[in-house]
Amino acid sequence: MSSIAPEQVITSPRLRPQETNTFVIFGASGDLTRRKLIPALYNLAVAKLLPEGFHVVGIAVTPMKDESFREEMCQAVKESKEATAFNEEVWRDFALGMHYITAEFDAPEGYEKLHALLSEIETEHENPDNRLFYLAIPPSFCGTVISRLGQHGFVSPQAHRGKGWTRIIVEKPFGRDLASAQKLNAEIHTVFDEEQIYRIDHYLGKETVQNLMAFRFANSIIEPIWNRRYVDHVQITAAETLGVEHRGRYYEEAGCLRDMFQNHLLQLLAIIAMDPPVRYGGSSVRDRKSDVLRAVIPINPENLGEMAVRGQYGAGIVDGHRLPSYRDEEGVNPKSNVETFVALKLFVDNWRWAEVPFYIRSGKRLHTKVTEIVIQFKRVPHMFFQLSSEDQMEPNLLIIRIAPDEGISLKFGAKVPGPAMRLRPVQMNFSYAETFQVQPATAYETLLLDAMEGDPTLFNRSDAVEHAWELLEPLIDIWAATKPFHPFPNYASGSWGPTTSDLLLERDGRAWRNPPASPLQSRVGVEPSGIVP
Ligand code: BG6
Repeated sequence: MSSIAPEQVITSPRLRPQETNTFVIFGASGDLTRRKLIPALYNLAVAKLLPEGFHVVGIAVTPMKDESFREEMCQAVKESKEATAFNEEVWRDFALGMHYITAEFDAPEGYEKLHALLSEIETEHENPDNRLFYLAIPPSFCGTVISRLGQHGFVSPQAHRGKGWTRIIVEKPFGRDLASAQKLNAEIHTVFDEEQIYRIDHYLGKETVQNLMAFRFANSIIEPIWNRRYVDHVQITAAETLGVEHRGRYYEEAGCLRDMFQNHLLQLLAIIAMDPPVRYGGSSVRDRKSDVLRAVIPINPENLGEMAVRGQYGAGIVDGHRLPSYRDEEGVNPKSNVETFVALKLFVDNWRWAEVPFYIRSGKRLHTKVTEIVIQFKRVPHMFFQLSSEDQMEPNLLIIRIAPDEGISLKFGAKVPGPAMRLRPVQMNFSYAETFQVQPATAYETLLLDAMEGDPTLFNRSDAVEHAWELLEPLIDIWAATKPFHPFPNYASGSWGPTTSDLLLERDGRAWRNPPASPLQSRVGVEPSGIVP
């Protein structure tokens, strides 16, 4: 089938925020700042979406001067695949507003220097004292920074007349289990009001994830079939070809459940399954998402094997290069039983979704880099066409591609041309890139701008974060306490994960949709030797 015809080029109707602010990054010498935050802010500068008089203050333990911080960040932008083409002039203006403070997070000196610097910036530029703090630091440091910000008088209540606003963005992982997430929520709430807290999950800023809401709720043909009467099951896949790279130490503490499921994948599930909100904004969307997480049936340890699969990658060959197994990665215990792959079967126990399985999987070093949602519809109740054995009738599939080539496809049966009544599955495609002919904003651009404008719709609320931990914690505990049934590694780099993941669906008479690699991606070869499926 042909694609939907390209529309006129549509540029973002977004305007630059009217009020300026100073963006303070704790953990400014870290990976997140150079890979995501500064490239996103630079892109906003190129798009003229940063407010006039905007400043960035980086704080970290690594000693640096303003000049070296600017140079490092300039390099980061030049190297970033997500940054728009480097523009010397834009960078020069942007970099003039960048500052750096070397400080320990628990010592008072750093906060005193920050006070002095913020007053200087605000006085010199006659800026209001609007401050957006970003915690790009491990969760174990968050409590300290938050209480120091409170003690040093950086935080004024939300609606203080005559004062600027103060907001805080907290990176994932938000805690490492339910107790630590509750503790962190309690610590933040002693200093910040909930309305000032922006718990970031970059998946919620992705263009197609937001489009999922548009697709469901702005089109009258979708909602009537979006329920247990028509949907057979839902698949969510977030597959990566990369391994843990240089993040072995972090990953040993996290594993795939904490790294991908507690946040990104349960959020996707919530958006797919939620009921229509009253409006877009305020607490409406977040209320409906929380309802979904509350309705998910917790995995019963007694039938764990039928509901959850874990895996860890072995060695493999990518583009002719041999890559190490997870256990051979830097910072990883050579006997590690940390999971790099998870597949779950979950049920959302409510009126709309009772008994419809949601199969969700994610893993590192899989065959293809792809994030997609597949809605498989029920078959027709009675097939009256006399089909020959060559006719392959597949169920209708709606495929929502989140990455890398964003779009939506619908698979349905069509008559093959000719005198005989023969049927074949065909596909109708909508591609974001082809239709709109613009590069979508990166997730961090969208979310940082939302936080500057005080729109929390795409950020997580404390209840959602705690529900997600509540759901996964029993599984995390069981897996931490028991060895995998099939010894790790149990899947080859470049495969689609352990065979037990296929069995999870086969037992129900279903199969994963394993999409082909996009031609733009590198091919991953499989090295099967030594791998126990
Ligand atoms: C991050 C995880 O939150 O998301 C990473 O910590 C993972 O391990 C990444 O690679 C995946 O994000 P995306 O946008 O590439 O799907």
